[in-house]
Amino acid sequence: MQALGIDIGGSGVKGAIVDLERGTLLSERIRYDTPAESYPDAVAPLVAQIVADCAWRGPVGITFPGIVYHGVVQTAANVDKRWTNVDAVKLFERATGCPVRVLNDADAAGVAEMTFGAGRNQTGVTIMLTFGTGIGSAVFLDGKLLPNTEFGHLPIRGKDAEHRAAARIRKEENLSWEQWAERVNEFLAAMEFFFSPDVFIVGGGVSKKYDKFMHFLKTRARIVPAQLLNEAGIIGAAMYVADLSTAQSQGAAHGDADWVAAVAPDDAE
Ligand code: BGC
Repeated sequence: MQALGIDIGGSGVKGAIVDLERGTLLSERIRYDTPAESYPDAVAPLVAQIVADCAWRGPVGITFPGIVYHGVVQTAANVDKRWTNVDAVKLFERATGCPVRVLNDADAAGVAEMTFGAGRNQTGVTIMLTFGTGIGSAVFLDGKLLPNTEFGHLPIRGKDAEHRAAARIRKEENLSWEQWAERVNEFLAAMEFFFSPDVFIVGGGVSKKYDKFMHFLKTRARIVPAQLLNEAGIIGAAMYVADLSTAQSQGAAHGDADWVAAVAPDDAE
């Protein structure tokens, strides 16, 4: 079973065909720079281009770096504000001619990690945090996602956590790994107080450099780096669109519960 996954980020729009049994990429990972003005009609053609580059006809799962409530974008902290209230499913279905489902970027990365990466077989409460341009969060109970949590915006010392502790801030403020990790620790302590998680998964660009700061992190919960690195969003998006239970409940809301069966290519069934 396969699906196309596309990950929309502040700096790049990336996509590939995903093998859903193995959680691996079946095609080359295609990447286009996110346009400086990242408004919907500037990003939609890039999504369509990736579908065309992959010669794909079938379900497309797409991530977005903001709250996506039943396919409609609610917030756009790190991309163009014109995304707010846009029906992203409609926009991308029109642009690609394919059936589309859209979910939050950190949720997608978490979904992939829980099945194929650092969260495999993890029970209890798992919190995936992605540190990049912002901070994304995904919360799981026994592997099941609670969608659209936004803990990057938890106030710490009067500021959104992501404005103090995103990976981008470390670079912009020229913080040492230790200084940055202290800020991350304050954020993790707040998360532990509110949720008592069993495991934190640290994802986003910094997960590649985990050895530079892991020894500074202090948590009661087990804390582990993400494993799927920059493929997590693509894989999670593809899983989300192909998940029949998810697709059916969302499809029902769109008045079309049979859409996957109706449009999936033969080899994707
Ligand atoms: C957004 C989240 C997103 C995170 C990572 C935050 O600013 O509000 O929705 O998951 O950045 O991109």
